Amino acid sequence: MKNNETKTPWPTKAAMEQVYNMNLWGGNGAGFYSGDGSHNPKLVNPYIDSLTSFLTSFKNPITVCDLGCGDFNIGKELVPYTKSYIAVDVVTDLIAYNKETFKKDNLQFLCLDLAVDSLPTGDCAILRQVLQHLSNAEVQSILNKLSAFKYIILTEHIPEGNFIPNKDIISGQGIRLKKQSGLNIMASPFNFKTKAEKHLLSVVLENGKGVIITTLYEVY
Ligand SMILES: C[S@@+](CC[C@H](N)C(=O)[O-])C[C@H]1O[C@@H](n2cnc3c(N)ncnc32)[C@H](O)[C@@H]1O
Repeated sequence: MKNNETKTPWPTKAAMEQVYNMNLWGGNGAGFYSGDGSHNPKLVNPYIDSLTSFLTSFKNPITVCDLGCGDFNIGKELVPYTKSYIAVDVVTDLIAYNKETFKKDNLQFLCLDLAVDSLPTGDCAILRQVLQHLSNAEVQSILNKLSAFKYIILTEHIPEGNFIPNKDIISGQGIRLKKQSGLNIMASPFNFKTKAEKHLLSVVLENGKGVIITTLYEVY
């Protein structure tokens, strides 16, 4: 039997397509479901409030790139507060469905692999519970491209209290929590450099299931 070290990872696109096809993040089996983190009002409502206040703090609305937009239950609430909203995901059928379902003049959907493809340009990149699913190599590849944005709003599911950050995982359904770890882009091996960092929001989950933390980074 193969252990974790010798498992050959699936390509991330195939892994994410399987998550949606097999409803591995839940849902009733009909349509696309990005998980409790995208639907539980205790997690979603404070996030939308916080992002809405950030987006409406600009005199002139800004362009947002929602990287790993998922089923768009959250993104759809933010579109009205932007000049232009570009929502990206790696799952082809999900993007096709979103294109049909959510139509606004200032909204477009793109099917891209964030780790492989060039990213669209914008003022602010939003990555909500996306990097937590990806290997360190893919996180690094994405971080290299994020420096092009003025602002990054990153949401990660991490353990509560102290933990060893950035233990590597195979990209897919799971996250570092299963290894008592979580992503911290400021720590090794990423050592991401920013001009300013502001904590926006933390929601502690019940039964020691960790905390979902949202941070605003201003990039050089
Ligand atoms: C847990 S869902 C979160 C969705 C959404 N951001 C939210 O908070 O509701 C993670 C999403 O990231 C997408 N994703 C993961 N890796 C990606 C990649 N390399 N490129 C583009 N999208 C990716 C998945 O397909 C999935 O839709």
